[in-house]
Amino acid sequence: MKMVFVSSLSEEVHPRRVLHETGPLRVIVPAHDPYADLVESLCRQRGWECRRVERHVVGDVELPLGPPFVFVESLRLLCRGTASMVYEASVGEGIIVLKQIPLDVGMDHPVKYLLASQEAKLLIGLRSPWTVPVLGTGTTPTAIWVAMERMDATLDRCLETLDPSALSLVLADACRGLAFLHESGWVHMDVKPQNIFVHQGRGRLGDFSAMWRRDACLPISLRALTPRYADPRLMRPEGRILEAVPEFDVYSMGVVLRELVEKGYLPETARDLAQRCLGSLRPSAEELADRLEALSHAGRHP
Ligand SMILES: Nc1ncnc2c1ncn2[C@@H]1O[C@H](COP(=O)(O)OP(=O)(O)O)[C@@H](O)[C@H]1O
Ligand SMILES: [Mg+2]
Repeated sequence: MKMVFVSSLSEEVHPRRVLHETGPLRVIVPAHDPYADLVESLCRQRGWECRRVERHVVGDVELPLGPPFVFVESLRLLCRGTASMVYEASVGEGIIVLKQIPLDVGMDHPVKYLLASQEAKLLIGLRSPWTVPVLGTGTTPTAIWVAMERMDATLDRCLETLDPSALSLVLADACRGLAFLHESGWVHMDVKPQNIFVHQGRGRLGDFSAMWRRDACLPISLRALTPRYADPRLMRPEGRILEAVPEFDVYSMGVVLRELVEKGYLPETARDLAQRCLGSLRPSAEELADRLEALSHAGRHP
């Protein structure tokens, strides 16, 4: 049965819109919504199930009171990072992924709070075929939450399953994701195999928690860098402030490419491309995507 969450605060499923539904529906309404009584009586008249909820707690985890979080029936912890917890959640017949960014630890500084909430808010507007699809965001008193479509794997976990051609295509897709972010005015700041997702044989860029506004000043001490992939300028800053530029991401992608050539996953022909990304005159993410796509096609038709 179709489940809907109605709230007078929601534009999408406002109580007035539910009046026009033909049903049958399973309706969830916040207990203290001004329309809750009305919604409940309408549901009763129509024989629909209606649940008034004050909080949505699954196991001992409180989820935001909004879609898709209120539809979650069970949770399984996928991984616990330094700044986030990632869960697999069952919703009706499907599985989605939820990222929880707790606010209780180290949120003493307003800038840290801003960094955490930034990811959630921005993601909704940053949709492309090459980035991980975000289904919704929400907050609880102690955390910010992001709901995403579940991807098959991260690149580091599925290298053995990809031939050089398929791998080049996944990397080309991730570079298109980067180009999209750069055009939208952002720098990803944490490009690495663990943040490149593979889904149905194609690539998508994910994990925007370190993202920074392009050309804005970057306080190095606040950034969660991955030293192995970071532009040396970020590791040895002359001052403590740098401008965030797309070249940082291209450098990281260069390290990814170089590693993949050295481990034999990509052909030697990709080495030059990697070197260009690491040099002083770096290609744009878009050019990188084009070159990797060409490499993928060349591998397919020798
Ligand atoms: N949409 C998703 N689908 C599948 N797995 C995911 C998804 N999002 C995150 N994960 C898993 O959780 C890990 C951490 O997620 P990520 O967004 O990179 O958070 P962090 O900021 O903690 O690195 C990923 O490396 C991946 O294994
Ligand atoms: Mg990550």
